[in-house]
Amino acid sequence: MLDLLSRPRRNRKSAAIRSFHRETWLSPAHFIYPLFVHDRDGVGDVPIASMPGCSRLSADGLMREVDAARADGIASVVLFPAVDDARKNSTGDEAWNPEGLIPTLVRRLKQAHPDLVVVTDVALDPYNSDGHDGVVDASGPTPRILNDRTVEILCRQAVCQAEAGADVVSPSDMMDGRIGAIRRALDAAGHTDVSILSYCAKYASAYYGPFREALDSAPRFGDKKTYQMDPANGREALRELALDEAEGADMVMVKPAGPFLDIIRRLREATTLPVAAYQVSGEYAMLKAATERGWLDERRVVLESLLGIRRAGADVILTYYARQAARWLAEGGLGA
Ligand code: PBG
Repeated sequence: MLDLLSRPRRNRKSAAIRSFHRETWLSPAHFIYPLFVHDRDGVGDVPIASMPGCSRLSADGLMREVDAARADGIASVVLFPAVDDARKNSTGDEAWNPEGLIPTLVRRLKQAHPDLVVVTDVALDPYNSDGHDGVVDASGPTPRILNDRTVEILCRQAVCQAEAGADVVSPSDMMDGRIGAIRRALDAAGHTDVSILSYCAKYASAYYGPFREALDSAPRFGDKKTYQMDPANGREALRELALDEAEGADMVMVKPAGPFLDIIRRLREATTLPVAAYQVSGEYAMLKAATERGWLDERRVVLESLLGIRRAGADVILTYYARQAARWLAEGGLGA
């Protein structure tokens, strides 16, 4: 017999003992549920091919889905709009129309669920005929995304969302200086209680493909590499963090989540702010594709992926699996 004094396996010998020293837990309290909405009359909910189980929801569909999510224990949603091409222009004016899709639905949601945490996306891509998160200047030899001009519009958008009742505005555009500008604009309009969840380290990622299909928001030309971060970079995330903290962000996000767990960890160690991570559309699509084929066990692999994001240091996870994961957790947690 081996003469071993220390045997780590003793702490794994039963479910109860494993639970004694489990370091990371999942709860529906950690989830923000992203939902797609559209503005077309009479078509109902429209399934998204590359995101099985997700649809672009009608207004009534949204109310139904939120009722069901609440019943599953979800306390927070974030809304993304698919707007008709006729409403898009080069400056994304529809983004700050108080009678537009998002403000209208935020009012309706808050009326039905005053305590639901409603998060809204601040960026121009759903409203911009160029499909970019900012205003494009196409006058030169290569198109440029205009930073400061865009930030002015984002401020109007954020204030419009706050007026409608959003609890948290979430800039996903990656323009420089937008957190401070939005904070000042919100405060000047009397919305000192509205929080800012900053997409702090948002990478120029191929994992956003299904989302862009869902919203028909892919850039009409070029890519987003002059504003979203290079996936090769980690230190740069700390630079974005320092700026967002100084500019008054209430929470900071890393996106995507799974391929960037090291960035989640670095932000967690560098800030006292809550850290969020976005398990994006491509991560969802991969999990769905493998589990639909029976190649992976959906419940186990999804909970493991969410646990990994939490273990890396995320307080909050934005995930299309929020409802399903909440139900799995209610049925028996992580199956210790
Ligand atoms: C754009 C935005 C994107 C996502 C959220 N907000 C796509 C992009 O930057 O092109 C992606 C989310 C996902 O893939 O689930 N403002």
